[in-house]
Parts: sequence; C-alpha cells; structure tokens
Amino acid sequence: MREAKHVAIVGATGAVGIEMLRCLEERDFPVSRLTLLASARSAGKRLEFRGEPVEVQELTHECFAGVEIALFSAGGGISLEYGPSAAAAGAVVIDNSSAFRMDEGVPLVVPEINPEAAAQRPRGIIANPNCTTIITMMALWPLHQAFGLKSVIASSYQAVSGSGAQGIVELESQVQAIVKGEAVESRVYPHQIAFNVIPQVDSFTESGYTKEELKMLNEGRKILGLPDLRVTCTCVRVPVYRSHSVSLTATFDRPVSVAAARAAYAGYAGVQLIDVPETATYPMPLDTTGKDDCLVGRIRLDAVIDNSLALWVVGDQVRKGAALNAVQIAELL
Ligand SMILES: NC(=O)c1ccc[n+]([C@@H]2O[C@H](COP(=O)([O-])OP(=O)(O)OC[C@H]3O[C@@H](n4cnc5c(N)ncnc54)[C@H](OP(=O)(O)O)[C@@H]3O)[C@@H](O)[C@H]2O)c1
Repeated sequence: MREAKHVAIVGATGAVGIEMLRCLEERDFPVSRLTLLASARSAGKRLEFRGEPVEVQELTHECFAGVEIALFSAGGGISLEYGPSAAAAGAVVIDNSSAFRMDEGVPLVVPEINPEAAAQRPRGIIANPNCTTIITMMALWPLHQAFGLKSVIASSYQAVSGSGAQGIVELESQVQAIVKGEAVESRVYPHQIAFNVIPQVDSFTESGYTKEELKMLNEGRKILGLPDLRVTCTCVRVPVYRSHSVSLTATFDRPVSVAAARAAYAGYAGVQLIDVPETATYPMPLDTTGKDDCLVGRIRLDAVIDNSLALWVVGDQVRKGAALNAVQIAELL
C-alpha cells in the first residue's frame, strides 16, 4: 500500500491539468490532500475530484507548504518562476513544460523507458518530456532494444489541442465561419488551420528548425541515454482535435525485419501494435483519444536506407504525452 501524498496541480484548470485530475482518479493514486492552483482568473472556481468539489487557489510562492508532489502544467515561465519555490518547500516537482528538460541534474523521464532516472533529482525537479517526443519514444524503445537505434527521420501530425483549449476554439470557429461563408480569423496559428496543414509548430530558431522540432532532436538522446543519436524532424499542425501522429524512418545498428519488429512490441506495456494492411487496419488519432496506450502500425522495411524501418505511431498527447506520463512519474516516487 503506497503512502498517501499531498499533491498540488499547478495549471489545474488547463487542458493538461484537468486530465491530470482524471488520471489521479482513474489510477487510484493515493492522495491525502489535493491543492489546485491556477491564475487569479480561476481562483474560487471548483473542480471535482473523487466526487467532491475542490476550490482552485491562486498560485503564489507561499502555497506549497506541506505539498509533497507538485505537478506543474501552466507553461515554462510559470515553471521557471514557481518550480524552485515548490522544490524549496520540500515538494518533488514534476514539470510538464520545457523549462528544465535539458538541464543537467533534472531527469527527463518516460516511466516505461528510464524509470531509474527519476531517483536522481538533486534539484527536486523531474521533467516530463515533450508530448511528440514521448509518443515517438514509446514506438522506438522496443525497436531500440531489439536492433540498436542509430538515427530517426520524423514528420509529426499534431492536433490543435496541443496548443491548449484555445487551439480547439480556433479550429471550431474557423470551420463554422467557412461553412457560413464568413471571413476566417487566425489568432492562435499564423495561418488558417481549418481544412489546411501548417508546417510550423512553435516559433522558428536560427537553425531553421522550430523549437518543437529541436525538442524532438534533443530530448530523445537524453531519455534513451544515446548522446550520438541523430534525429531530424518536421513538425506539422493538422486540423485534428486530439492525438498526435508521427511518421518515422528509424535506422538501426543491426539488420531488421518486419516480423522481428512486430515481435519486439509483444508484451510491451503502453504500446499496442495495430497493423493489418490487408484490412486497412492501422492507428488513427480517433483511435487513441482518451486512451493510455500509444498505437503503432504501418511497419515496413524502408525502401531507401539500409537496416531501417518505416512506421507510424499515434498517441493522445494530452494523456500519455503529458498528464498520464506525469502521474506515472509520481507513481515511481
Ligand atoms: N495541451 C497539450 O497537448 C500539452 C501536451 C504536453 C505538454 N503541454 C504543456 O502543458 C502546459 C499546459 O498546457 P495546456 O494545454 O494545459 O494549457 P491551457 O489549457 O492553456 O492551460 C494553462 C493552465 O495554466 C494556468 N495559468 C496560466 N497562466 C497562469 C498564471 N500566471 N499563474 C497561474 N496559472 C496560470 C491556467 O490557469 P487559468 O485557467 O487560471 O488561466 C491553466 O490552468 C504547457 O507548458 C504546455 O506546453 C501541453
């Protein structure tokens, strides 16, 4: 029986924060006390946990007294400003933003892959990886163990809920405007997202890659402990409500086969193989929404690069890409 903990959620009213509440409930996480934190706008609002209303409080530096686990999901600026206060008050911070991910002394953890890393947290902070990276790593980890991963070429198809609730509102309002023949307004994205795809997720860096793409390039190395892993990626926003998809070409040290790749997924917690081309059976975003597992399909030998497999993975980025992964990390403590 695990000891019940005082848990705080920073960003409790957001898309990920609400999902964290659901994951704590569904997984029967032992919570002795729950502190829900958000901006002053939400103070006094009530959210339900295990059938009881819990009042949301305004986030302050002083509100972490007695908190043992602080799940942060309110953006990088908030994590940078308040994460150290929570850690100084004695909480283990599990941070869902990119603020600390690549910092030395902050483990970057996917519980199915590197659970042991969570134990070494000299700053009292554990980072939850980028959502697209988590989903990609879930697909690649069993293959890495079978064949030794060398490089990855990826293209993502990222849902609008990855931009929070406002992404959903933008897609919905644009679809309605187009159906009524009205002008389309874009506030969240640089272009119309309805009936379109946008080859930009987050802002551009001098390298020509976007920040989201750099997360994919860098975070996998840290999670897998492969400093020489080479990754290139194009991240694309698509008019899908929820669940990110990723098309991958992965190159390995050792020879590969489709049968051995399929066998590599057998018995792996958190990944399911859905791959029957004859019956048009493969994973799609509608299949993973609200679900814990990442789904892998379309496995074939890559036609260009030796020792390589082409494959497709889909996962709910609010859940395994964020809230569920954070709660699974909390379960390791
Ligand atoms: N959405 C995803 O798929 C996804 C996936 C992986 C990681 N993430 C990361 O998770 C974090 C949250 O994303 P989200 O999609 O849940 O965003 P969201 O729906 O916009 O929610 C943001 C949350 O942060 C709170 N917040 C904003 N400003 C604040 C302030 N000054 N003080 C205290 N709380 C404040 C908001 O509270 P109010 O309601 O009071 O404004 C809300 O609870 C981000 O770092 C994001 O990058 C998101």
